Amino acid sequence: MPPLPASTYDAEPIPASARAEIDALLGSGDLFRYTAPADQPGPVARLEAEFAARMGVKYALALNSCSSAIFLALKAIGVKPGDQVLIPAFTFAAVPSAVVHAGAQPILVEVGDNYRIDMTDFEAKLTPSVTAVVISHMRGHTSDMDAITRLCTERGVTLIEDAAHSLGTLWHDRKIGTIGKVGCFSFQSYKMVNGGEGGMLITDDDEVIARAVIMSGAYEHNWQKHRLNLNLFAKYQNTLPLYNLRMNNLSAAIIRPQIAEIDRRTRDGRLNHDHVAARLNTSPHLSVPPPLPAESRAPDSIQFNLIGFSESEARRLTKIAQTKGAAISIFGLSEDNARAFWNWHFIGNIPDLPKTRNMLMRACDLRLPARLGRSELDQIADAILSSVAEIKP
Ligand SMILES: Cc1ncc(COP(=O)(O)O)c(C=O)c1O
Repeated sequence: MPPLPASTYDAEPIPASARAEIDALLGSGDLFRYTAPADQPGPVARLEAEFAARMGVKYALALNSCSSAIFLALKAIGVKPGDQVLIPAFTFAAVPSAVVHAGAQPILVEVGDNYRIDMTDFEAKLTPSVTAVVISHMRGHTSDMDAITRLCTERGVTLIEDAAHSLGTLWHDRKIGTIGKVGCFSFQSYKMVNGGEGGMLITDDDEVIARAVIMSGAYEHNWQKHRLNLNLFAKYQNTLPLYNLRMNNLSAAIIRPQIAEIDRRTRDGRLNHDHVAARLNTSPHLSVPPPLPAESRAPDSIQFNLIGFSESEARRLTKIAQTKGAAISIFGLSEDNARAFWNWHFIGNIPDLPKTRNMLMRACDLRLPARLGRSELDQIADAILSSVAEIKP
């Protein structure tokens, strides 16, 4: 069988239905979200209304990235310089970066080999110095949101969800991103919805949305174009800084037609993931952790642990699998990986987190776009299993 082409892992194509609006925008040059009059919402305002309706929340604010959404969420809930913010030690470097950008100190919490937050460490680190918690559902793996919500409520700490990889995921019947006070989503290309770049902040809280809208760059009276019936805007006008993190119309035009695709991509992504997971779990040398009982996942990638591999065997495995077209990487073994916490020198002192470190040194990562067909999935599983067999005959 020929090796899989690199294009197997490409981003989702943009639906043809986006073309007419994109062409119209290119023709008019009307790319700025606030050009449209308040009574004729442009693509960004329409996307916000559609996204809020889909998620069942009062407010959605479109931004230029999920990193911006996390930063703005921290500012909007009132995190102050010097505050401590808990984050999982397994996440993307943009998350501790957003905390540092808000002037706060990220406190890293251990993550287990099922990629979920270690609740004993979480509880121990949730001290009175912590004012906010950002839960990254990293690679779409949901931590125990019942326990996290209970602890945050008991201790009066605000919960922000980083749902960059979790659009479409449910916890019990709740949509991920709607459990915390603020939910943040990414439309960067390798996510469920491909906008190139883009983000969304959602909340039901009037204060949070008013503050976030102003700080996102609704200068002068552009907040009127959000058509949110709130008198809070006048309170914050000119008292909050403008960080200018807005989404532009072209991104919204690319994203909007994909909202209708989320359910199908979620279903296909889960079936694809579970098919490859079942095949990989037939090997005694591989383990794909199961979802938590309350979780219905929306995967666009797969993670699995190597069992009984030395470091050099693990490195050899990635090389062999890559020659067969299965583009796996190991978080802790690829140089300068942005998801390995020991590379986050910008946070200051990096703590010793043996549990997370051990997981990262053996956890493999592979994109698994929802559009892949059964034969491509089987080729991927075959490539990984036959590579394992070369090392562990
Ligand atoms: C877990 C997680 N959170 C946040 C982000 C930031 O998303 P964005 O690229 O939209 O800023 C990423 C990016 O991949 C991520 O993996």
